[in-house]
Amino acid sequence: MFKKIMLGILLLLVLAAVGFVLFVTFNYERTFDAPYPSIKASTDSALIARGKYLAYGPAHCSHCHISLTQFARVERGEEVPLSGGFPFKLPIGTIVTPNITPDNETGIGKLSDGEIARALRYGVRHDGRAIIDFMPFYDISDYDLTAIISFLRTQTPINAFQPINHDWNFMGKAVMALVMKPMGDGEVPPSPAPDSTAAFGKYLVDNVANCRGCHTNRDMMTGAYIGPDMAGPTKFEVFDLATGSIIEGKHIVAPNLTPDPETGRITDWTKQDFLARFRRGTLIPGTPMPWGPFGRMSDMELIAIWKYLQTLTPVKSEAPIGIQEGNP
Ligand code: HEC
Ligand code: HEC
Repeated sequence: MFKKIMLGILLLLVLAAVGFVLFVTFNYERTFDAPYPSIKASTDSALIARGKYLAYGPAHCSHCHISLTQFARVERGEEVPLSGGFPFKLPIGTIVTPNITPDNETGIGKLSDGEIARALRYGVRHDGRAIIDFMPFYDISDYDLTAIISFLRTQTPINAFQPINHDWNFMGKAVMALVMKPMGDGEVPPSPAPDSTAAFGKYLVDNVANCRGCHTNRDMMTGAYIGPDMAGPTKFEVFDLATGSIIEGKHIVAPNLTPDPETGRITDWTKQDFLARFRRGTLIPGTPMPWGPFGRMSDMELIAIWKYLQTLTPVKSEAPIGIQEGNP
């Protein structure tokens, strides 16, 4: 009798496991519906200039939509063509960034303005699949989104194929089948006027420069936020810029930017210290922090960010400085 029950349980477990594998295999490519924002690229030169400024500066598209071999140039603040190819090796598999120059065959030439706008506002790809939360521009203003897409259309097309079917491992497929879903709710709060106030700083930190996405602790499997805003410590890979690969067995941590007297990284930095730090650029080779693009930000924007960081609730959260032992 006991043996029969055990066999029954075993059979059920095997069936459940097989069912799970089948479910994941058939569902990881599931697609979602999200509306196409009514954003239209413009040929207005001021808008195009704003879009280029965002792409190579605060919104740092150039930090990811390039190949690893171009990474050092971006970190020096140079304008590198956005032809993609950066391989993000995550615990759930490898994702390669696509070519976002307007090439018809391998880039975004064939995507409509609505499709590009939807990818950035909802995290839904042109083919309907959910985009892992790498580009939290969901609440960027219509004006800035229009500027970015207007600029993307003016780039020189580059023929560079990048795989858009990512190399997910089984865990990645399970995450795609069960967890991943579109992000933005489409309700974009009115954006504050661009000036040196904390309100504009918050807009940049949360919606444009992704400071919040990196400096808030996250579950690296699902991307879910698991700690208070801007309190770190988020673990990242370190890049070997000479060979263009990820250094095994090392990681680096995004620090706590809340004004906690003991553990806040910038609690005793003055406005001038903060500006000076951004003008210096990368100090730790291989850091994921986009120092190159951010070094192109204006004093006004950096002061706005500094002011906003002062308004955060202090959170005690230790983050080690420099390159650390162990994978992220
Ligand atoms: C932190 C890295 C990162 C940054 C910054 C980033 N991207 Fe991406 N982007 C990605 C990755 C990764 C993908 C691939 C997502 C996928 O296929 O699931 C992607 C995909 C895209 C796509 C393709 C969507 C589709 O429908 O196939 C577009 C367009 C795009 N990004 C535009 C931008 C623009 C414009 C910016 C700057 C405003 C930007 N990205 C900033 C990482 C980034
Ligand atoms: C892609 C992830 C990422 C993004 C985006 C990001 N950071 Fe960081 N940041 C890091 C990491 C990792 C470090 C630690 C390594 C270093 O100092 O380069 C860091 C370090 C810092 C430091 C401390 C520098 C020092 O010398 O100790 C400050 C200040 C900072 N970030 C501010 C910001 C602000 C402000 C933004 C948005 C404008 C931002 N970060 C966006 C990952 C990120």
